[in-house]
Amino acid sequence: MIGLSPWRRRNATGLCYNAGMRFDVLTLFPGMFAGPLNESILKRAIQAGIINVVLHDIRAYATDRHRTTDDAPYGGGAGMVMKPEPLAACIRAVLSMAPETGEPSQPPVILMTPDGEPFTQRIAAELATCARLVLVCGRYEGVDERVREALIDREISIGDYVLTGGELAAMVVIDAVARLVPGVIDAESIADESFSDGLLEYPQYTRPAVWEGRAVPPVLVSGHHGEVAQWRRRERLRRTLERRPDLLARAALTEADRAYLRTLGWNDPTVGEGAEHSAATKS
Ligand code: ADE
Repeated sequence: MIGLSPWRRRNATGLCYNAGMRFDVLTLFPGMFAGPLNESILKRAIQAGIINVVLHDIRAYATDRHRTTDDAPYGGGAGMVMKPEPLAACIRAVLSMAPETGEPSQPPVILMTPDGEPFTQRIAAELATCARLVLVCGRYEGVDERVREALIDREISIGDYVLTGGELAAMVVIDAVARLVPGVIDAESIADESFSDGLLEYPQYTRPAVWEGRAVPPVLVSGHHGEVAQWRRRERLRRTLERRPDLLARAALTEADRAYLRTLGWNDPTVGEGAEHSAATKS
């Protein structure tokens, strides 16, 4: 028995966290998910039935006496490879499970792996339109390539570093996707945030107005909504230019944005020969 939330219930499909957009997670370590799913926004979304996370223990599909899920790589080398049979049986069992709340029975099957497509806010938004996702957590040195060929639709990496397995990566995907599901957080926060329009966020301040001798920018306490909005937009542009100039090439910029960026030293690609900004404006 895996230690999960007080509202867990067991059914034919595994350990099920209520109804809503459904994430099926295939893992050798279901216990790793209990913490993140039992806190804060995800906990509330699950309790409200807006999202549903079903954990499937791949080891339960191993048929030998020792419930073996890995083996040495053909050709030699370090580490172990996830065996094809238990993983394939688990994926097939999950795909054949009768939908409980109208979710499609053939959702995309996504392998979490460092050699997958880099995960971005755009992919999160795309996945949030699915009623159901199947997330496969790789372990050891990887999964047998034939399972990838036969059963995996998409491969996702959360960054250019190697984790001990796909569990934390799957959690990142669940978190980023779930918060875009209507009702999980308020729509305004999503519209306003970093990456939604290709720019980083403006700096935020709250009370007290002066903290350890540092005052909040006067415009924020001026009561002039128009000036606040302009200051925030400019801060987003400045911050994006300083920290992630690569994002500006794809951002939705107005002519006023471009003019402001040019005053900061941005090499506007729409003007003349325009080369990429080289972070030279950072002071
Ligand atoms: N498994 C191990 N490392 C990973 C990564 N960076 N992204 C997704 N899955 C992984």
